Amino acid sequence: MLAGRILRNAIRLVGLGSLVLHHSPITTAHVIKSHHSRPSTTGREVIRLDMGWRFWHSFENPDGITYNQLKAYILPSGNDFIANPSDRHRLPGSAPNVTAKYADNKFDDSNWKTVRVPHDWAIEGPFYVGEDVPVKGGMGRLPVQGVGWYRRKITVEPDDANKQIYLDIDGAMSYAMVWLNGKLLGGWPYGYNSFRLDLSPYLVAGKDNQLAIRLDNPTSSSRWYPGGGLYRNVWLTKVDKTHVGQWGTYITTQATSSSSATINLVVSVENKAATAKDVHISTDVFKLDPETENIGTKVASFPRATITVSSGQSVRSNSSTLVENPQFWGVWPSQEPNMYVAVTKLYASENGTVIDTYETRFGIRTFTLDSDKGLLVNGVPVRIQGVNQHHDLGAIGAAFNVRAAERQLEILREMGVNAVRMSHNPPAPELLDMLDRKGFLVMDEIFDSWELSKNPNDFHLIFQDWHEADLRAFLRRDRNHPSIYLWSVGNEVGEQQTNAAGTAVARSLINIAHDEEPTRLVTSGMNSAKSNMPFPSVFDVISLNYQGEGIRDTPAYSHLPGITTPPAYSSFKSAFPKKLIHSSETASSLSSRGIYYFPVTSEISAPVNNTSGGNSNTKQVSAYNLYTADFGASPDRVFIAQDQHPFVAGEFVWTGFDYIGEPTPYYSSRSSYFGIVDLAGFPKDRYYLYQSRWRPDVRVAHILPHWTWPDRLGKVTPVHVFSSADEAELFLNGESQGRLVRKTSSYRFRWDKVVYAPGELHVITYKHGEVWAKNTVQTAGKAAGLSLSVDRSSIRADGEDLAYITVKVVDGKGLVVPHATDNITFDVSSAGELVATDNGDPTDFTAFPSKQRKAFSGLALVIVRAKTGERGPISITASGVNLEAARATVQAS
Ligand code: GAL
Repeated sequence: MLAGRILRNAIRLVGLGSLVLHHSPITTAHVIKSHHSRPSTTGREVIRLDMGWRFWHSFENPDGITYNQLKAYILPSGNDFIANPSDRHRLPGSAPNVTAKYADNKFDDSNWKTVRVPHDWAIEGPFYVGEDVPVKGGMGRLPVQGVGWYRRKITVEPDDANKQIYLDIDGAMSYAMVWLNGKLLGGWPYGYNSFRLDLSPYLVAGKDNQLAIRLDNPTSSSRWYPGGGLYRNVWLTKVDKTHVGQWGTYITTQATSSSSATINLVVSVENKAATAKDVHISTDVFKLDPETENIGTKVASFPRATITVSSGQSVRSNSSTLVENPQFWGVWPSQEPNMYVAVTKLYASENGTVIDTYETRFGIRTFTLDSDKGLLVNGVPVRIQGVNQHHDLGAIGAAFNVRAAERQLEILREMGVNAVRMSHNPPAPELLDMLDRKGFLVMDEIFDSWELSKNPNDFHLIFQDWHEADLRAFLRRDRNHPSIYLWSVGNEVGEQQTNAAGTAVARSLINIAHDEEPTRLVTSGMNSAKSNMPFPSVFDVISLNYQGEGIRDTPAYSHLPGITTPPAYSSFKSAFPKKLIHSSETASSLSSRGIYYFPVTSEISAPVNNTSGGNSNTKQVSAYNLYTADFGASPDRVFIAQDQHPFVAGEFVWTGFDYIGEPTPYYSSRSSYFGIVDLAGFPKDRYYLYQSRWRPDVRVAHILPHWTWPDRLGKVTPVHVFSSADEAELFLNGESQGRLVRKTSSYRFRWDKVVYAPGELHVITYKHGEVWAKNTVQTAGKAAGLSLSVDRSSIRADGEDLAYITVKVVDGKGLVVPHATDNITFDVSSAGELVATDNGDPTDFTAFPSKQRKAFSGLALVIVRAKTGERGPISITASGVNLEAARATVQAS
């Protein structure tokens, strides 16, 4: 049985009601109701292959198969994305000389694990601890390496015999090779790209067909946690032999005035039938509600066209239409993310039946990348308040989950984020959909390395063979997303430093991007290319990593080895006066949530080390948010540089959330210290520093540190406050510590001489002389109990939706106990299941699915889902030794 039938790219017409579509000159008219009662005439079926997979993993190479051995059979899978016909790959004439026993139809996989896809084989751990281990801190100390096999039956109905059937994989980590009924179909090595394989040649209709996918993850292949397996969605697409091709629509818009916009559409029709076909094409444009995803009223139609497609060919049809009074897609909150959907239908010319229906979501908007004014969206300047995000979703790993991604965006939005850089690889398609619908800007990025390696087994090994196919596939997949304002073809590549040679590689990638998708500009993140070098000169947009604010160039960093770079915005502006300049990475500020070390530096930015902000025994970094990686800068220093150079369009902070791997500066840990938000999704203090800058309207006065320091009686314990106010007065136990006026280039209020005494810290802030925001922090008593709070009280019983429950260790008065590390045990009632627990501690090696988790700085997190189809209350209990237990309820419906 095929489980999980849902539609994607097909008609998602819930809420369309009984809209009647008239197709002149074709006389048929039909009523489209909803996807539950879809008429079969729509022609396209997209089935999600989430259930029913058997999985097996080995740390060795269990079958001796290698990519290089089968490369000649895999390379042709990229042919649709190679422009020059003579560069395309020929499939060898004979079958591969390997025995792929796990791909054999007769292989008995009944002992293999049953898994649901998306699936990340490594996330359950256990973590590798210590130094002599196969996967170290950089890649997250989880068992990502080795070979994984996924097997599943595909049942194809007898009446599908005349259809074209594709397998669409949104991402498989990595070196995917796919067999059907024992025959190798092809594959795709780069784990972050989406790809399609044609199942038709080997599929037997009316029977069970055996699909087998082999993935191979090398060690030393990534600078962060890649995850492993079929970690994104997999789809079966059934279409007529003559159909809209893969990512076969391309919509561009020109807003000619505020009362009218021109929409240009290219439809690529592919004909896999044995004879030439005549097809009529119609496309209607509807409003799309970005929140409900319901389709609304029809606003335009493209002129109908008739084309002839020869057997085995693909033909493009171009047309344009006008949308009157367009509702523009814009960046939230100053604009609304209005969207449209174009529904394209193909009709067989002989009888007028609909043979394919294909849906393309898009937005009408203009981006102007202005060298002086920054980014203009629909003519209005929008400052880029961005964060970098890696693809992992914390404790649930790389396996894409809609709710986990949505929660991240909600937390980031609340802070004032309006832009996300996809560092440094193509994201899940659903994430881009979500970013469109929520009105975020996206810098969409594909590579972290080109020909030159950063790790022995990274992308450089396949760059020559795959860069064009990967880049064109990425651009073709993502080009209709209104949120994407910029393509990035690389990040900090070694080619920055190789002058003519590296610049030539850059130019070839830029040329591919311009050729494939001419409407957007192209950039690459640059940390070492200087304004007088050839490398930056070929890019349309200057994206600087750390150089804008300067690298190691202030006294606090002067003792460090490494290149010193003075603040570089001005030199890039002089060299490239016509190009937009922004920072693709800033800060690399480090902190552990709720951890504070003393003394506190008097600088506004300092490198972390054992005597300043860090502790190589505890492997934590002080959260005063003044401490950085050697090449980094505190948020405050970045703000100064940005404010002194108003032509700079904004920044992407490294990073929004902590991520698995890259635990600079303590590589014996599991996860990063860079996030503004920790791995569990709990904001660090720095969150409120960005919020006060990016959302100055929010009445916030955030105090740090906490005020429970039994060992600091009588000791200097600096107090800092983050607020958009212009004055602030701090009181300790009622006694003023001074009223401070915010100075130019100062982004925090700091009272660095406060002497600790238990009790109460109270701050009153003022704006324009009026009270703006107040806050109080009190000394907590002994841990007495637990308190639970749920992010949503009701979730869907679909086995995927998630509830995130925050656990606080509290004292008798309900105050969070900031040093608490109590071990908490979770119990989830039978309608639900515990997915993972976490606490945001980069040093915690308890496996993520554990039912027990220590609190970190007083907090822990439990992630729960409902079992599929089990509706009703799920109760979650948290208990600990000498702590009053707590219970929360989530309704599954
Ligand atoms: C940058 C790099 C990022 C990340 C960051 C950590 O140089 O582009 O991927 O490694 O440093 O600070």
